[in-house]
Amino acid sequence: MAAAVRVLFDEAAIDGRVAALAAQIAADHDEPPVIVGIRNGAVPFMMDLLRALPARWHPDLVFDFLDATSYAGSRSTGDIRLAGDLVVGVEGREVLVVDGIVDTGRTMEAVLNHLRGKKPSQVRVCTLLDKPSRRAVPVPVAYRGFEVEDLFVVGYGMDLDQRYRGLRHIGVVEDGA
Ligand code: IMP
Ligand code: MG
Repeated sequence: MAAAVRVLFDEAAIDGRVAALAAQIAADHDEPPVIVGIRNGAVPFMMDLLRALPARWHPDLVFDFLDATSYAGSRSTGDIRLAGDLVVGVEGREVLVVDGIVDTGRTMEAVLNHLRGKKPSQVRVCTLLDKPSRRAVPVPVAYRGFEVEDLFVVGYGMDLDQRYRGLRHIGVVEDGA
């Protein structure tokens, strides 16, 4: 059995922030950016975000994924590996990178360096959760859902050893199980 999770952000709170971020992104772009999700953690947030973007964008929305792995159980080590690559081309395009959480920033730094090599016209970062107190490298976060303190959170894409990703809310595991 999974341990109890203390809820920090419930489904309604998440939905509200996703809608607000989608509105902000729509207001900032004349046409849809190419959306690049960092697998696996970004997936639930990114799917909800895509659906919340303006319906007029939906026919032209292009999205893809990058796989970033930091070799650690739960906390990131700083040893970031990118596996695979984008299928879609981003040269000359505006890109929006989506992740569930920016912690030390090392994953996003590696992803941004990788993407910039492809000569997009612009790269912006959208993260549902931001833990600025843990930052080791600067990350230009353009769109942020929630700021969180230095807690290890799970749910809505975020895992503890691959569990809890399917939760509709975000919270803290009570007893570390
Ligand atoms: P960073 O490279 O330290 O910014 O960490 C980014 C990655 O570490 C995220 O994409 C998550 O996979 C993982 N991570 C960092 N903090 C948490 C957390 O509180 N809960 C779950 N995963 C986390
Ligand atoms: Mg993880």
